[in-house]
Amino acid sequence: MSDEEREHWDHRYTTEGVRSTEPATFLVEVADRFPPAAKILDVGGGSGRNAIWLARNGHRVTIVDISPEGLNLAVTAANEAGVHVATMLRDLDSAPLPGGPWDVIVDFHFMKRHLFAHFMEVLRPGGLLVFCRATVKNLERNERPPRPYLLEQGEGWDLLSGFELLIAREGWSVEERHEFEALARRPG
Ligand SMILES: C[S@@+](CC[C@H](N)C(=O)[O-])C[C@H]1O[C@@H](n2cnc3c(N)ncnc32)[C@H](O)[C@@H]1O
Repeated sequence: MSDEEREHWDHRYTTEGVRSTEPATFLVEVADRFPPAAKILDVGGGSGRNAIWLARNGHRVTIVDISPEGLNLAVTAANEAGVHVATMLRDLDSAPLPGGPWDVIVDFHFMKRHLFAHFMEVLRPGGLLVFCRATVKNLERNERPPRPYLLEQGEGWDLLSGFELLIAREGWSVEERHEFEALARRPG
């Protein structure tokens, strides 16, 4: 699966370039709860729209992603924005999460179910996880992402068991996507 994923994403980044430069709306909503100059890991951060916005706001951000093409785009965009974003090429299906401890982990539109137990291990006690993923209901209005990449009904809450939930909700976004969004804290 991972080789296919790398090829798929490399191809998309090579042919389409940076997909968006706008940070995710939910990230902007919750970022004022992050500590100043937070050490942040952006998992599956791709071409860096969220990481660059966070770096512009004074945070120390590392993107981990399987796609060298996505990471190259992120570095170029960060340089153009005059900020530093660290990158780490890693297949999170087979390699562990980069060791922290991280103050914040950001996970947008990238879902690897097995990672949720490990998020807890690399977050510092009291650290925050920001997560956003489309749910199966999204198929009522959008063909993509396909079902294996969508949260089942209520699954978001299950994945975050053990976390303290500061925000956890599902609904249609202004972009007409049905998404689960959560801000969760590692207890301690
Ligand atoms: C839908 S994009 C989301 C990009 C970014 N989080 C955003 O919201 O704009 C999914 C990202 O996950 C990365 N990815 C897919 N499989 C991966 C894996 N096994 N390990 C690490 N990254 C992976 C892809 O390269 C891609 O950049």
